[in-house]
Amino acid sequence: MTQDLVSRARDVMSRNDRGAYTVPTHGLYPFQWNWDSVLSAMGFAHFDEDRAWTEICTLFEHQWDDGMVPHIIFHERDEGYFPGPEVWGAGRGAVPTSGITQPAVAGFVVRRMYERARDAGLAEERARHLLPRIHAWHSWMHRSRDPEGTGLAAIIHPWESGRDNSIDWDEPLSRVPTDGVDAFRRRDTEHANPDHRPTDDQYLRYIWLVQKFRSLEWDGGRLHDESPFCVVDPGFNAILIRSCVDLAALAERLEEYGIAEREREMARRGLAALESLWSERHGQHLCFDRRAGRLIESLSVGGLLTVFAPVSKDRAHALAQRIEALSNSCARLVPSHDPSAPEFDGLRYWRGPAWLIVNRMIADGLERSGAEAIARRIREDSLRLIEDGGFAEYYDPRTGEPCGGGEFTWTAAMVIEMIETAREAA
Ligand code: DGY
Repeated sequence: MTQDLVSRARDVMSRNDRGAYTVPTHGLYPFQWNWDSVLSAMGFAHFDEDRAWTEICTLFEHQWDDGMVPHIIFHERDEGYFPGPEVWGAGRGAVPTSGITQPAVAGFVVRRMYERARDAGLAEERARHLLPRIHAWHSWMHRSRDPEGTGLAAIIHPWESGRDNSIDWDEPLSRVPTDGVDAFRRRDTEHANPDHRPTDDQYLRYIWLVQKFRSLEWDGGRLHDESPFCVVDPGFNAILIRSCVDLAALAERLEEYGIAEREREMARRGLAALESLWSERHGQHLCFDRRAGRLIESLSVGGLLTVFAPVSKDRAHALAQRIEALSNSCARLVPSHDPSAPEFDGLRYWRGPAWLIVNRMIADGLERSGAEAIARRIREDSLRLIEDGGFAEYYDPRTGEPCGGGEFTWTAAMVIEMIETAREAA
């Protein structure tokens, strides 16, 4: 059975393979997306290491001079997606890109690929190539998204979190205007059920922000201070902190001690500052609205993903308990929002559904902190979702119903990663 799942997963990945990069899924997402791509490399690494390294190297070929790594690389023209390159107006090279970023998973993935490599020579060469580039990205995060040196990076667009329409953003996004947005036609709702996608009102505000940043000519020094949406997401930061820790370890191995030291320092400051987002009442971390100057009382998976960072034993234990409690209100872990919240919507993208990439990262963190039983439950739930519903984008955590786009690259990659890793450990 698991062998069959692996070969079906490989088929999905190869259908979305464009040679030097993969699309998240054909139709809905026809370009290269940042964190989709890097997490998908983890799947490739189990059967084609060269292809896995290429996936990440292609992304970094389009890194901006200031260190920013865009969330979309528009390799080819495709009218089936909105907002396309002309809306962003953000290209810095021959290939247009978006002008915002996404969660920095590369440090984590590259260390893992390097340490598990069967072809050590190839791994050494590619890791040496990527190391300074990932370091430049992390440094950009702190420079451009934390100008006051708090230790935590802000996102200036919901898309940067990767959790586009999370309930976390409802309040800060409501302050983003909707006037003056050029007329547009959404394309996502032609590929996926509109009930599974963000609303039109949210889209207006997403595009308002893009137009605002374009009017600032994507000047990294100004976007943070001038965006009406400026939020510190604990999940985004936990991923960054974990990647800093992992990049520091990789830099040590490659005897790049200066990078190692600076990465450790970013991680240390980030971890200390993460404490300011902890809610004792809720037993998880919360987002911080930097414009309004207050925590956002919204119980999303962003505040549970923090277990992926090396948080203290106490925090990890509390997060494990919180996830165990959530398992009483849904059939399949981990919901992207607490099902008891009135705004929860089990079908709508990041307002409730479970995602395999998030499951992979949370299970990793739980396992590292000794919470093996709940980590195992998350992995088992993940594979059951696939067995019952195929390689969807996300799933209703109450029923397991597959939602969003079908044939998803990173879902397939996580299946390969979970099955192969378990097999090696057995
Ligand atoms: C989309 O278009 O839905 C993406 O998540 C934004 O990059």
